[in-house]
Amino acid sequence: MIPENTGPAAVIVLAAGAGTRMKSRTPKILHEIGGRSMVAHALLAARSINPGRLALVVRHERDLVAGHLNELDPEALIVDQDEVPGTGRAVEVALLALDAKEELTGTVVVTYGDVPLLSGALLADLVATHEREGNAVTVLTALLDDATGYGRILRGDDGSVTGIREHKDATEAERLVREVNSGIYAFDAAVLRDALVHVTTDNSQGEKYLTDVLSLARQAGGRVAAVVTEDRWQVEGANDRVQLAALGAELNRRTVEAWMRAGVTVVDPATTWIDSTVTLDEDVRILPNTQLHGATTVARDAVVGPDSTLTDVRIGEGAKVIRTHGSGSVIGAGAAVGPFTYLRPGTVLGETGKIGAFYETKNVTIGRGSKLSHLGYAGDAEIGEDTNIGCGNITANYDGEKKHRTVIGSGVRTGSNTVFVAPVTVGDGAYSGAGAVIRKDVPAGALVLSVAAQRNAEGWVVANRPGSRSAELATAASDSSNSPASTEEGK
Ligand code: UD1
Ligand code: MG
Repeated sequence: MIPENTGPAAVIVLAAGAGTRMKSRTPKILHEIGGRSMVAHALLAARSINPGRLALVVRHERDLVAGHLNELDPEALIVDQDEVPGTGRAVEVALLALDAKEELTGTVVVTYGDVPLLSGALLADLVATHEREGNAVTVLTALLDDATGYGRILRGDDGSVTGIREHKDATEAERLVREVNSGIYAFDAAVLRDALVHVTTDNSQGEKYLTDVLSLARQAGGRVAAVVTEDRWQVEGANDRVQLAALGAELNRRTVEAWMRAGVTVVDPATTWIDSTVTLDEDVRILPNTQLHGATTVARDAVVGPDSTLTDVRIGEGAKVIRTHGSGSVIGAGAAVGPFTYLRPGTVLGETGKIGAFYETKNVTIGRGSKLSHLGYAGDAEIGEDTNIGCGNITANYDGEKKHRTVIGSGVRTGSNTVFVAPVTVGDGAYSGAGAVIRKDVPAGALVLSVAAQRNAEGWVVANRPGSRSAELATAASDSSNSPASTEEGK
């Protein structure tokens, strides 16, 4: 659903560049930080200002990018750039495509698909300034210590913006300018349309420069101005993986800080990674070395970490998740997981339940108050309420060809090392003895014992391991009249 158009007429997101410095088979803008592709961050910022239309200009790895865009924002228009290179050409083809439906009037914003930290707030600010001042063009700029590579903002004696000079075309004097073009602008649609006709490829790179529109607009009598941001991260693009990591770290720093300001305790922000897609309630505590990804949500008073990596996990109020690797799971309120626990997709742990140390779970529903405390595997199973699964229990769900289900009732108590050979059902209140291998259904309230009776071969060690330390101790033990061997088995 497209939100109401309360913002500019259109936003055009440029993403036709090759991104060769990434050295990747994945298109540059599909690389992710904070749990979203760079282009997803760019599109969210664009959408947040409620534009009438949204267009993305593509060329390199066109089909991959278009497929991704269809998932993210199916209402956005995909525009293919042709052979003519340059940001000016990219905007020109987008404008032609947008105008084809209905000629745009008012403000057109241009942003980049590889500038992931740009916020909707700064874009809204740019548009508001542009419209308030009645500008033909308003460019977003920043002051950088090292402006190498960027287009420089040229200003007249009165301080007004007169144009932009690309680094490669700049004179020595122009290269001293520290104010750079971010590549993000608000244009008046008519000015942009008219100016682009006059933009040539007559420059050192043989490209149609969008930046030429500024001087052309000025020559045509329009007012050209700049909005200077002090937050350079918001205009920073990622050209290689070093910049991608730096942007990812900064995005994370901002995300973690925002959650702390919203009432979440983060013991060690430096080792805590939270995707932009995660939501946390007040009074959640995140302990060191924790990564929260995807659609993970954590409810009030829950404690997560240390050393946990959770993707698409829903954690209920007051739950504790320690040293756990989990995905696609639900952890009920007041439940406990970990340490050293591996939750695979489809794990649903009921309120106040427990999945303890060295447990692996998959596709299992565990009822309220049931506990799987130590060492085991539970997969393709359903466990009722207030059941206690003993140490080392295994659901043998795989017959080598197919997976089968295990159904365990409520109030069940299983002995250590019980194996459930699925498909099998254990009724409510049943018990199992240690080492039981359950191959047939167990009725409610039964005790299941499936191990052969114990047999002790008396004197075996002395006879078969003569002279060993074991034989020596065994002899000493049977010589002592109080030894269990002589009082019980010895009879
Ligand atoms: C551009 C600006 C420069 C600014 C810099 C900020 C121009 C002429 N120069 O330079 O003033 O300081 O951005 O980063 O605009 N793109 C297309 N089609 C193309 C070329 C580029 O869609 O034919 C897209 C790219 O995918 C990218 C963006 O436009 O998202 C910028 O392209 P890039 O080649 O990085 O621009 P620069 O030369 O760095
Ligand atoms: Mg370039």
